[in-house]
Amino acid sequence: MLDIRELFRHAEKYADQTVEIGGWVRTIRDTKAFGFIECNDGTFFKNVQIVFAADTITNYKEVAKLGVGTAIACKGRLVLTPEARQPFEIKAEEISEVGSCPSDYPLQKKRHSLEFLRTISHLRPRTNTYSAVFRVRSAVAYAIHKYFNERGFVYVHTPLITASDCEGAGEMFQVTTLDMDNPPRTPEGAIDYSKDFFGKEANLTVSGQLEAECYALAFKKVYTFGPTFRAENSNTARHASEFWMIEPEIAFADINDDMDLAEDMVKYIIQYVLETLPEEMEFFNSFIDKGLLARLDNIVNSDFARITYTEAVDILKKSGQKFEYPVEWGIDLQSEHERYITEKVFGKPVFVTAYPKEIKAFYMRMNDDGKTVAAMDLLAPGVGEIIGGSQREERHDELVARIRELGMDPKDYWWYLDLRKFGGVSHAGYGLGFERMIMYLTGMSNIRDVLPFPRVPKWAEF
Ligand code: 4AD
Ligand code: MG
Repeated sequence: MLDIRELFRHAEKYADQTVEIGGWVRTIRDTKAFGFIECNDGTFFKNVQIVFAADTITNYKEVAKLGVGTAIACKGRLVLTPEARQPFEIKAEEISEVGSCPSDYPLQKKRHSLEFLRTISHLRPRTNTYSAVFRVRSAVAYAIHKYFNERGFVYVHTPLITASDCEGAGEMFQVTTLDMDNPPRTPEGAIDYSKDFFGKEANLTVSGQLEAECYALAFKKVYTFGPTFRAENSNTARHASEFWMIEPEIAFADINDDMDLAEDMVKYIIQYVLETLPEEMEFFNSFIDKGLLARLDNIVNSDFARITYTEAVDILKKSGQKFEYPVEWGIDLQSEHERYITEKVFGKPVFVTAYPKEIKAFYMRMNDDGKTVAAMDLLAPGVGEIIGGSQREERHDELVARIRELGMDPKDYWWYLDLRKFGGVSHAGYGLGFERMIMYLTGMSNIRDVLPFPRVPKWAEF
């Protein structure tokens, strides 16, 4: 059986030949003498039109009654139709039912809301929208690996079960083999994790960064690409409890090298998807987000803006806008602020650097002002923060001081501090939220629609 993708890509090669395809009925209509099936096999975004005629196939009546969703096999002659909407059709010689589909199939031909489709995550990849989303998702994953591999980065698999809290935000899912209804206790009454299979309190990783740093200081250029977990109970369109992150880490590099890499990577990904999946991108542009293609094109061809946090605060204060969350130097920028800056002021992605140390993680390099750190966030119109990164504090004593200042224990970070002690060097990295990147590329506005089986607070039953 041939893939429908192959037929669309090389229709001339198969002209007037008998081909065999398998797929699912998307629509079917018939007159008494002949009928049409739009058939999709999932390998290509478009449907193949099959024409079946009462005087050509032996089972016309049965075929005419097939329901939407039925799996069929079809043998027929491929005929080029240059004057029609579709470039070719298949004149059926044989059609057989492979898997029946009764009329309570939820995906009958009509427009379904994304909210409804979220309740059937096992069936929704069969719709046009999700077919396009998840093919883009797959292509972007490939593009990212291609990008880093072409540049000599080593792909590191950082652990999912860890004892560290990289971001220091305490948003971790705990992992334990202890019976939590009746856990072993220390003489002081605390839960005794030394009896756990892991021998200590363990959690699912919120970021692979700290471990990636170990490998960057061995390989110079590395990246991770894997799932990360956050137990933040924020029921927003941009947060998931389980999401994928890409975290490059580069040694002998500073915050500007970090931003250059991020900008180059984002542009590469956009270009790759535009070139390899034009039909899907055209679909998003027509049905999900008008103007998407023009916007992406503009982004690839312009420099991202770069401003400091202090400049961002000034812009917001002078804007005359009434924000729900008042703007003061020191606040964490909220999504309304990010949107104003990216959408109203710049109209393109914006790097914001030099954030107050109080709102950023312990490992970021202190700037000379003693108040801000060498952080960078990339904010994108429509989505907000898609990348968070920084230059890391490579100075041993400064890092110990900062760890103490935050009430943490340097002993817990002995291995991380060793990286500074033994040949420490300036290094930087960032985390790209994979789903946020997909949202940005497709115009999909809810993270639940770019994860195959979204894990969010109150997730569906499977
Ligand atoms: O800004 P974050 O928290 O940065 C880090 O974790 C660093 N350790 C990364 C690094 O420097 N190596 O997260 C990075 C990105 C965010 O910009 C956002 O795109 C995404 O991860 N992200 C989420 N995506 C979906 N759901 C969530 N709950 C997310 N939290 C962060
Ligand atoms: Mg962040």
